[in-house]
Amino acid sequence: MVLQYLKNFIKNKGGWIPFDSFMFECLYGNDDSYYMRKNTSFSGLPFGPSGDYVTSASLGQWMAKAYVHSYARLIGGTSSVDKEVFAIREYGPGDGELAAKILIELFDRDIPIKKYQMLEISQSFIEFQKTKIADILKQYDESLYLRANKILEWKLVEVDCEEFATNTDIEPINGLVIANEIIDSFPVKVALWQPKGEILELGIRINDEGDLEFQNRLADDTLIKKVLHRKNQAKKNGHFWATPRMLDICLHTERWLKILMSKLNYGELIISDYGLERYELDSNSRIESNVTAFFNHTQTSKLNECLKNVGSQDLTYLVDFSQLSEFFFDQSDCYFNLKSQAAWLIDSGVLDQFARNQDFLSKSYRMVEEVGNLQKLLSDNEMGQSFLFCHVFKKNSSEA
Ligand SMILES: C[S@@+](CC[C@H](N)C(=O)[O-])C[C@H]1O[C@@H](n2cnc3c(N)ncnc32)[C@H](O)[C@@H]1O
Repeated sequence: MVLQYLKNFIKNKGGWIPFDSFMFECLYGNDDSYYMRKNTSFSGLPFGPSGDYVTSASLGQWMAKAYVHSYARLIGGTSSVDKEVFAIREYGPGDGELAAKILIELFDRDIPIKKYQMLEISQSFIEFQKTKIADILKQYDESLYLRANKILEWKLVEVDCEEFATNTDIEPINGLVIANEIIDSFPVKVALWQPKGEILELGIRINDEGDLEFQNRLADDTLIKKVLHRKNQAKKNGHFWATPRMLDICLHTERWLKILMSKLNYGELIISDYGLERYELDSNSRIESNVTAFFNHTQTSKLNECLKNVGSQDLTYLVDFSQLSEFFFDQSDCYFNLKSQAAWLIDSGVLDQFARNQDFLSKSYRMVEEVGNLQKLLSDNEMGQSFLFCHVFKKNSSEA
């Protein structure tokens, strides 16, 4: 269904669309797109063992503990803002598991929270999240579910092809904003740089057999500017591009960050994703696009595969963390740091918490499971180094 819609869309656009438009239509463009489709069971969700991929949210309680560490430190560190008004806002909360685990941590530790708000783009995902959160909390403690119900709130975010995310109607909060694996699902452009040729943009057309196929066109000025900026940076980092190379460039990230930060009065933003900084992303050895598809727990890095299973597979790319750094360097009211997931978790005290719980855990089968989860989250070969955390601290405007 998405395929037919896409073909009509391409025809209406004159026979060619850029890759970011294609990605938007596959993931968000209509009711059958990957992140919008209406399913009637959890097995239809992209996340988790029965879906296409697993995220850190499902790997034990560790991520929740680390987020709550940040939130608790934030509340503890201010005397100028009333602690009772603090909130957590989570973008794209997946199946809701992280939210449920964070609420358990908060209630267990008696940490005040006025609101836990989730910004979700799909109404049917909201229904899944409600059910999943209720299941987890009720299983833990029925009274906790009743308490959580009073502070949980959902907001539907509208997305469109031009501006992508429009979430301007949310109120500013004091507190913690979480965006775990969100930016990697923003529609991205793919540019082609050539040593002796013009800069091109990858797009999709319909061939004579009626199938989708890639076709390059001349890039516009905006994209050319971004490519040349990265080429100059690469040169400063000692990388002299000599062979043709592809670059993934997201034109939505800065605008999204701008809106997001305007809705945070005082507090912290934690953006986590799999990605790299440009000194690696734009090094001599990386010449392919980092766009990949995920289907049934199999990742395929061949760009051509992205044209298959249209609307039924996830499309994603390695986030350019230098783009985030550049954005936050320019903000006068905040400071930030960038760490690997392993460093962030360790700095958040998860190993201390693990040591404290060891006696209890060793008496149960959960020990084995939790150790396995922690290893996956920390290990260099798994998620420890391939996921980065951009941690932003926004000052109270009265302190700025
Ligand atoms: C890779 S999933 C991650 C889900 C979840 N955060 C997790 O870690 O399990 C990406 C999610 O981000 C959502 N998303 C993309 N753009 C968004 C936006 N602008 N606002 C809120 N959610 C968004 C997608 O719909 C999708 O559900």
